[in-house]
Amino acid sequence: MLRGAQRCSCLLARQVAARSAATSYIQTLPATLAPLAVLRTAILPDNAPGGAAGLPSTSFPSQSIHTSAWMWQKPSPLDDEDKGRENEDGTVRKINREAGTPKGDEKSKTFEEGFISPHRGSTSEQGDQDSDYLMMHPVYTKEYAESVKPQHKVPEKFHEKTGYWAVTAMRSSFDFITNYGPGKMDECKWLQRIVFLETVAGVPGMVGGMLRHMRSLRSMRRDNGWIHTLLEEAENERMHLLTFLEMKQPGPAFRAFVLLTQGIFFNLYFLFYVMSPKHCHAFVGYLEEEAVKTYTHCIEEIDAGRLPDWEDKRVPDIAKEYWKMGKDAGMRDLILNVRADEACHSHVNHTFAGMQSYEDNPFVKGNHMVA
Ligand SMILES: [Fe+2]
Ligand SMILES: [Fe+2]
Repeated sequence: MLRGAQRCSCLLARQVAARSAATSYIQTLPATLAPLAVLRTAILPDNAPGGAAGLPSTSFPSQSIHTSAWMWQKPSPLDDEDKGRENEDGTVRKINREAGTPKGDEKSKTFEEGFISPHRGSTSEQGDQDSDYLMMHPVYTKEYAESVKPQHKVPEKFHEKTGYWAVTAMRSSFDFITNYGPGKMDECKWLQRIVFLETVAGVPGMVGGMLRHMRSLRSMRRDNGWIHTLLEEAENERMHLLTFLEMKQPGPAFRAFVLLTQGIFFNLYFLFYVMSPKHCHAFVGYLEEEAVKTYTHCIEEIDAGRLPDWEDKRVPDIAKEYWKMGKDAGMRDLILNVRADEACHSHVNHTFAGMQSYEDNPFVKGNHMVA
């Protein structure tokens, strides 16, 4: 009897040890790849004025409080003058025209003409003391959220073409495997798809932010503002996930698949970001374009009456608080807000893909127009 109990406890201990070893392995994989990042910094220095790490060592803009594009509440007319505009509170809002204007064929590459999905967020006045623990994030007017539509940046450069084709291949396969298509989706399938994709979408911002953070530490130089924007994106995606999880709790098989996917995607993205951040940002830019398309399909399905269970469904409190939605907000309002966030991510990542990693983040607090 005693021997049996000893054997059981021994087996249990072995299982626990094996499980914790597997978890540690997954958690430390990125750390094992970290030397590659060091190697890249040493062997492939960016052509920056600041030296090997590619980060300028001296000058740092006076507008050094970098946030995401959350300040963009109003339309950003491209014909505004560089000298800045006055805010309602009398302070001058500088428009970073240099960073904010596409090079070359400017006219055909403005947001208004569909070059990159636009994003306009809120001002801090719309913030809430209760959600102060959250990072900056956009809050949209209903009109703005309705106006967001799928847009496409035509891939021209090599890193854009690579990102575009990678996303196209992934999307086609995923759609085929999951039997996705107009008229084929019900409320349950939509939630499954959204929950799964949001578990993936939160990875790139965190990986990019983490790698830039680590580079700043080891090179002992400033990052010039990218980290915050990338982490804001990661948190924003996680808030999407938490919102939809209020409506559907996945089962064990689903969770196992998420674990597997994250293990693969996190490490691959980490490796590629070490090798070429430009490729990764272009990839995410196109991935987010697809997200905008998907949420637009979802809105069309709601409008067509094909998702009857969502017609009277109220959104979870977490979402009402996050996007400052009214108490009667419905599923359509929620999807509109999420879609506007995805357009923002597309815009931010396409912008970063067109920049050198040592350049200042153009998404500076006070600016409302970039790239
Ligand atoms: Fe998302
Ligand atoms: Fe996104």
